[in-house]
Amino acid sequence: MTQLTAVRGDITQLDVDAIVNAANESLLGGSGVDGAIHRAAGPELLAACRAIGGCPTGAARITPGFALPARFVIHTVGPVWRGGKHQEPALLASCYRESLALAHDHALRSIAFPAISTGNYGFPLALATRIAVDTVASSLAPDDPLQRVTFCCFSDHDLAVYERELAQRAAS
Ligand code: APR
Repeated sequence: MTQLTAVRGDITQLDVDAIVNAANESLLGGSGVDGAIHRAAGPELLAACRAIGGCPTGAARITPGFALPARFVIHTVGPVWRGGKHQEPALLASCYRESLALAHDHALRSIAFPAISTGNYGFPLALATRIAVDTVASSLAPDDPLQRVTFCCFSDHDLAVYERELAQRAAS
């Protein structure tokens, strides 16, 4: 059974098989967690991303982690929140599903997600957290080879929201 946990921390420091990057469609870096991951991974990450040539919203691409502790970076592009009537929930769910599909394709055992789209892209945290936990949980098989999924929160507030969501799911 895959272990789902939430932690407070800097995702660039997590020693997991893959960390997920909340990127933009150019894949050429940015601020937020995108900027932190590129800074920590080093310039080879940008070169690898440039070679991929972009990523549509809701999709995911994988590169090596280079100077990061994580072996891989899975870059996914979350939706910009525009009020909720522009497929934002479905596109956010797709980010989690497509990232897990790449983890499965590469036989990864552990993966860490940031709170995709809840920073610069303005997606309401409570709804995004519900989508993240529900999508991850429903994408995993009972005997899934993925052993650990970590939701890496950058604030105590975000961590509390994730912990509440995980506790509700465990109780249901
Ligand atoms: N570790 C973990 N989480 C982090 C880190 C970090 N080092 N830095 C920021 N975060 C958190 C933010 O606090 C937020 O909860 O990641 C979450 C996502 O916020 P953003 O990084 O702003 O990502 P997003 O809302 O998806 O916006 C993506 O911002 O950086 C640009 O290029 C990126 O255009 C894209 C957009």
